[in-house]
Amino acid sequence: MRAVQIVDLTGPASALAEADLPEPEPSHPLSPGSGVSVDVHAAGVSFPEVLQTRGEYQIKPPLPFVPGSEVAGTVRSAPEGSSLREGDRVAACCLLGAFAEVAVAPEFLTFPLSDELDFAQGAGLVLNYHTAYFSLKHRGRLSDGETVLVHGAAGGVGTATLQVARGLGARTIAVVSSGEKEAVAREAGADEVVRSDGAWKDEAKELSGGGVDMVIDPVGGDRFTDSLRSLREGGRLVVVGFTGGSIPEVRVNRLLLNNTEVVGSGWGAFVLGKPNVNAEIGAEVGRLVDEGFVRPIVGARFPLERASEALELIDGRGATGKVVLELR
Ligand SMILES: NC(=O)c1ccc[n+]([C@@H]2O[C@H](COP(=O)([O-])OP(=O)(O)OC[C@H]3O[C@@H](n4cnc5c(N)ncnc54)[C@H](OP(=O)(O)O)[C@@H]3O)[C@@H](O)[C@H]2O)c1
Repeated sequence: MRAVQIVDLTGPASALAEADLPEPEPSHPLSPGSGVSVDVHAAGVSFPEVLQTRGEYQIKPPLPFVPGSEVAGTVRSAPEGSSLREGDRVAACCLLGAFAEVAVAPEFLTFPLSDELDFAQGAGLVLNYHTAYFSLKHRGRLSDGETVLVHGAAGGVGTATLQVARGLGARTIAVVSSGEKEAVAREAGADEVVRSDGAWKDEAKELSGGGVDMVIDPVGGDRFTDSLRSLREGGRLVVVGFTGGSIPEVRVNRLLLNNTEVVGSGWGAFVLGKPNVNAEIGAEVGRLVDEGFVRPIVGARFPLERASEALELIDGRGATGKVVLELR
């Protein structure tokens, strides 16, 4: 099968190489001896793959390896007793191995793909939308009618968070860095959009009548303290990622003085090995697809052999919505 591997740790422009590899056995490390084998139509590209080309991500497989954590495609084979059948359209999280014509995912991270969504949209469904739901609901304890400030709102996690929050009855304020990204955040349903290079903290406080209930933060960096300042009493800042480059530190007296919380949200670390949680989140995201709230926004599409361009786009802060590789 055709695949793309990370062959060294020199960064997105030079670390990838095409390879002709044997098809993987239908077994996944998270479910040894068992796995759903998928004919990949589209593979999602995300920030962790950029980090992996520099050896900076927490998952560091030995070189060379096929990166890519999520796919959409059709089932080639499913474990005995599975409700999935050959030919079913699915979206799946495989953790590694997505940048290839065939990928294997554990059954508990493989979900039927609604006919409402095409394969490119399906390739942006599991990682971002499950993270968004988990961050908002499980970690942030979102209630109907609350206001959520979303950083990196035109990105993959950001657009997913805007759509899921709306579906859960929240009002959203998107933070973005450019006019083009503002348009994407509005397409994703943001109620309000503020600019990261402007007085976003004061604007957010004004737009929310004194402070937001929750901040979803995939960016981190030097905006963290202002995120805390934008919360109302009882507000929660949910830490999702650090695309801004630096990991912020918090002076905890701020939390005491304003009665606020900082909450970590690591979707993968929590849900791996918890099939029931995955099934619940999958069902909720599926409901939001059926109700029309969830429609993954696909930004750039590349053929497999141009995977390094996809990574460079993300690395250069140029990506909007979900970046995908199309294989079939
Ligand atoms: N915790 C979890 O379970 C979980 C799950 C999935 C992903 N993540 C993490 O969430 C983060 C976001 O992922 P994503 O797929 O949404 O990424 P993405 O599509 O590339 O979007 C990230 C956004 O970050 C903003 N940003 C600010 N400074 C940046 C910089 N120096 N370089 C690049 N982007 C910068 C950009 O928005 P502006 O230009 O508008 O500022 C960009 O749109 C990543 O760190 C990823 O690892 C965490």
